[in-house]
Amino acid sequence: MFAAHSKALERQEIIQLLKLKGTERTALLQRAREVKIKEVGNKVYFRGLIEFSNVCSKDCLYCGIRKGNEKVLRYDAKDDEILNACRFAWENRFASVVLQSGELSSPAFVKRVDDLLKKIKQLSNNELGITLSCGEQSLETYRRWFESGAHRYLLRIESSTRELYYKIHPENDHHSFEKRLEALASLKQAGYQVGTGVMIGLPFQTYEHLADDLLFFKKIDIDMCGMGPYIEHADTPLYEHRHVLMSKQERFDLALNMVAVLRLLMPDINIAAATALQAIDPAGREKALAVGANVIMPNLTPCEYREEYQLYENKPCLDEDAELCRNCLEARISLAGAEIGYGEWGDSKHFHQRNKTNIILRNHQQK
Ligand code: 5AD
Ligand code: FES
Repeated sequence: MFAAHSKALERQEIIQLLKLKGTERTALLQRAREVKIKEVGNKVYFRGLIEFSNVCSKDCLYCGIRKGNEKVLRYDAKDDEILNACRFAWENRFASVVLQSGELSSPAFVKRVDDLLKKIKQLSNNELGITLSCGEQSLETYRRWFESGAHRYLLRIESSTRELYYKIHPENDHHSFEKRLEALASLKQAGYQVGTGVMIGLPFQTYEHLADDLLFFKKIDIDMCGMGPYIEHADTPLYEHRHVLMSKQERFDLALNMVAVLRLLMPDINIAAATALQAIDPAGREKALAVGANVIMPNLTPCEYREEYQLYENKPCLDEDAELCRNCLEARISLAGAEIGYGEWGDSKHFHQRNKTNIILRNHQQK
């Protein structure tokens, strides 16, 4: 029934798998777990998440920190607060951090991130791995940040279907689907391990859209993926369509099916257990780790800012400090039957594999 490895999954098969319920669904989730363990092992890698600024120049229709939401108090964490969070990650052997922010592209912002990267590398003996998640930028900016020490980048496509993309973003130059695709290509060109993803259970989204998203990930040959349920936010335009949504539990279950099918489709990539899963089910991330995900992003954002980084409602861990989060994570990860890859970067196996293939191809062409 599950054609992992031997034969690529077709669109119709993917749709069927996404719709599975009951014992057949349990079998799908179990199969994804086995494929994960066989292909990338049973370790979970930590990436300490630092949401360093909620200032954003965009107006995505689903996002709580969109520029047009005047209820949000805007913040910009100070360098030493960010560096302290990085130090915490390093000292606790998290091995990597993710720096995430709203999207800005001013020269001052580009320089700020660049300076931060250098300081993080310095404070950690060059050891801390750094993932960036700061939106669409020029190839030049991506290259500059790569040279300063970032080596992974997350930029979700949100939906790979152009029409749906424009149902959840304003259709203008500032929210261009083509530019998003171009940015993903630039990231690859600049040498990053590239991660993308989508929200699951959006208004107007169909199983066909989701199957196409998975095939899109395969086509552009991503190294990492983060995808979680869409959660409506009252201060956003998309909220008016809340009546057409699946129930939260259905969105959650479908998100786990997406993780499982992606693991079958791309067995050696890194898949993150999205934080949004936890907003629906307190053990949501661990459930994703049990069916195919192998990365988790404990929140290290200084507590005073968390209230103002609510992309969606019911965002978890608003008042927990990093230490607490870490302790509860450890217990729950062992309950999920996985081990923690302390002190290991946990790079995408797929990334190294595709680089090896590229080198072989290049050598072959030169002969
Ligand atoms: N529900 C779920 N996920 C959301 N994101 C933004 N707003 C929401 C929401 N309302 C996700 C987007 C973005 C990531 C940082 O957070 O996919 O890429
Ligand atoms: Fe900030 Fe979408 S609202 S990038």
